[in-house]
Amino acid sequence: MAAAAGNWRRTHTCGELRHTDVGKTVTLNGWVAARRNHGGIYFIDLRDRYGLTQVVLDEKLSATVKLGGEYVISVTGPVHARDAANVNPDRETGRIELVAERLEVLSPSRTPAFVIDGDEEVSTETRLKFRYLDLRRSAMQKNLAHRARLISAMRKAFEAQGFIEVETPILTKATPEGARDYLVPSRVHPGEFYALPQSPQIFKQLLMVAGLDKYFQVARCFRDEDLRADRQPEFTQLDMEMSFVEEEDVFAVWEQVMRETWRAAMGLELKLPFPRLRWEEAMERFGVDKPDLRFGLELKDLAPWASTSGFGVFTGALAAGGRVMGLAVPAPHALSRKDITGLEEVAKGLGASGLAYWKAAREGSSGPLARFVPDAASAERLMTLLGAREGDTCLFAAGDQDMVRKVLGELRVQLGKRFSLADKSIQAFAWVTHFPLFEYDKDAGRWFSAHHPFTAPEDWTLGGESADPAQLASRSYDLVYNGWELGSGSVRIHRPDVQERVFQILGITPEERQRKFGFFVEALASGAPPHAGFAMGLDRIVALSLGMDNIREVVAFPKTASAADLMCEAPSPVAPEQLAEVHIRTVVPG
Ligand code: AMO
Ligand code: AMP
Repeated sequence: MAAAAGNWRRTHTCGELRHTDVGKTVTLNGWVAARRNHGGIYFIDLRDRYGLTQVVLDEKLSATVKLGGEYVISVTGPVHARDAANVNPDRETGRIELVAERLEVLSPSRTPAFVIDGDEEVSTETRLKFRYLDLRRSAMQKNLAHRARLISAMRKAFEAQGFIEVETPILTKATPEGARDYLVPSRVHPGEFYALPQSPQIFKQLLMVAGLDKYFQVARCFRDEDLRADRQPEFTQLDMEMSFVEEEDVFAVWEQVMRETWRAAMGLELKLPFPRLRWEEAMERFGVDKPDLRFGLELKDLAPWASTSGFGVFTGALAAGGRVMGLAVPAPHALSRKDITGLEEVAKGLGASGLAYWKAAREGSSGPLARFVPDAASAERLMTLLGAREGDTCLFAAGDQDMVRKVLGELRVQLGKRFSLADKSIQAFAWVTHFPLFEYDKDAGRWFSAHHPFTAPEDWTLGGESADPAQLASRSYDLVYNGWELGSGSVRIHRPDVQERVFQILGITPEERQRKFGFFVEALASGAPPHAGFAMGLDRIVALSLGMDNIREVVAFPKTASAADLMCEAPSPVAPEQLAEVHIRTVVPG
């Protein structure tokens, strides 16, 4: 090992030196990213967060040091200009190199599990198990830096509008957002548990009752739910709430925040205001509540044609109160019989009994529906309804409205991806408003809040005592972006009587109401201002703004799909004494 000579501390970072620094004697610290031996002369690429610098060791130094990949070293020496032939134009430090006269190993490294910034594909498991190595990769460092920039820009934008950041508890009582709670046993109160917050919802409303007026928080939330690419068991919201406002006030605040954030973090100018779209319209035109507005392929109501089509499946669906809808895939995007069979499988998987198709033509159309389109006039009518042109492949779904929308909505998304229909240069934000207040769960046999139970109804009387919950509209809204739900919010219930009535419709018994939400209803009865708010999924917006669709890439230490941390092996068993302390005895199934 080379002896430590002089001060090891860096004078510059590995991304900093330029041609103007030639002649200076500098010290760099960093990781050995690559080593090459050219006839006894050693070349090292030295890496830190800021970049890579080429370091040259002369023969004497080369002979005395033993370096492995990812060793942490300190080198000192003069900055030399590279020969024209050796200039690396792809690197900001590519015109210079450091000629080491002193080298010190600050910390050796075991052979890393994979080559940092190497070419070979590394499995997700390996990346997560050695996340500290994975985060050494320049792509991950960029992601985390981008995340920090975005959060910082959002904070500034909220502060500029007079919002104050307040931290709310992590050890708390359940805040219902529709997922399971993570529970923490209490040592001091035997048999009792805290719940980790699914969101700061109740607390932020209490802050409004307290008169804080404009609150925001970068809030960690915990939800025990099935995980997907866009879901982690713990994640971060940019959460906010404000008093004496309605929907449009919240939208205006967020549009301003988004404009400033996009400008500061990405140098892009967003077009405001974002379009507003009623939930019913989104469902009718796109079949989903988070439509990707960067392409057409809209769903069309075909009842006017289907009712007289003579096709039993279609007339039957209409007679049963269902729908017949379709969409036209433009002719340049060819779909083979096999493709359509694949799409039909998707439709069947979502509950359809089939997926009819029709190759649009005024004369000589084809497909299973052709015999129900007997002449040019009938074809013309159907093509007009579908917005189809000659040669388009038209897909049809018939049956229960929810199923038809779900099927065609999913096919629209899949076809959009497959034919790259979305214009990548567009930032398609939109507010989706007027969601239903309740949804019926057939399995559970009861009503659930479509958003959460604190969402205000459109009609404060809730339609009177005998109203049908299915018909009630809410004052909740989502912000969607390129087909993703970025965030949700609502105008809240600030009247205790209305809150009680909602709990009642949700089938929460008076005792349970008192036990779970007694303090909250009491607060509402203690001078609650009208208020509204919103929470943005930060992980999602960071990922999407980088053009990625897995939030794992922008979370420093994420969990796997089975909610495990592969690196520190959490969750894990704990010692019996520790369990006894919190009064827990476990029964492990199997
Ligand atoms: P909601 O439950 O819709 O609303 O959550 C708001 C946003 O948080 C993000 N999100 C998630 N991100 C990653 N992993 C998850 N498991 C996850 N779950 C949700 C989404 C979502 O749009 N209290 C209300 C907000 C309000 O009414 O103000 C709430 O939490 O981007
Ligand atoms: P069949 O009469 O069962 O031979 O079906 C004729 C065509 O209608 C086939 O292409 C089926 O896939 C299609 N089809 C059947 N049920 C439905 C449905 N619910 N919606 C749309 N198309 C359907």
